[in-house]
Amino acid sequence: MLKMIVAIDVNRGIGYQNELLFNLKKDMAFFKRKTLNGIVVMGTNTFKSLKREKGLPNRTNIVVTRSPEEFEGTGIYATKDIDSILALSEHHDVFVIGGASIYELFLPYAEELFITQVTSAGERVDTYFPEFHEDFRLRRVECALEESGFYYLIEKWERK
Ligand SMILES: NC(=O)c1ccc[n+]([C@@H]2O[C@H](COP(=O)([O-])OP(=O)(O)OC[C@H]3O[C@@H](n4cnc5c(N)ncnc54)[C@H](OP(=O)(O)O)[C@@H]3O)[C@@H](O)[C@H]2O)c1
Repeated sequence: MLKMIVAIDVNRGIGYQNELLFNLKKDMAFFKRKTLNGIVVMGTNTFKSLKREKGLPNRTNIVVTRSPEEFEGTGIYATKDIDSILALSEHHDVFVIGGASIYELFLPYAEELFITQVTSAGERVDTYFPEFHEDFRLRRVECALEESGFYYLIEKWERK
């Protein structure tokens, strides 16, 4: 199944200058718990923003890029073949972890969204998660948290 995991502000903002908007440790712990030992798919910008040569540890990292040859010899699996990722998701849980262009690309195929909904607006924002409310319904709120003055809900949405 294809799933997405994302943290958004009240305007669906997700990033600024290739960084996250918020640094929420408990949210990161949730992200890790959900994706550990699984398959994560990300765009080149998000891969670079991790600042980890080998990607996220203890996960199969797939980078979506129009230039997979640039990743040769790095040990990172890079592809432009979207269909192969969709085929993989028919047999395994695949987590799309961003950023904006990759969420946009895969949203039509996603069945579940794990959305960390921060209740305030990011100070500066230049990237957004696509509109999803029309096609997804809120299944449950996993938890409500407060951290560093930010309030947020971790929500599970499923395709209508
Ligand atoms: N809040 C969150 O949960 C969250 C999560 C992840 C990321 N983010 C934020 O999102 C921002 C990055 O988002 P972004 O949209 O700029 O970058 P991105 O989606 O991470 O990466 C964009 C790159 O993906 C590749 N790509 C895009 N569409 C493609 C396609 N159809 N086929 C093949 N490759 C394709 C291209 O790589 P090439 O140039 O190599 O071809 C493109 O430059 C950052 O601020 C990051 O911190 C936030």
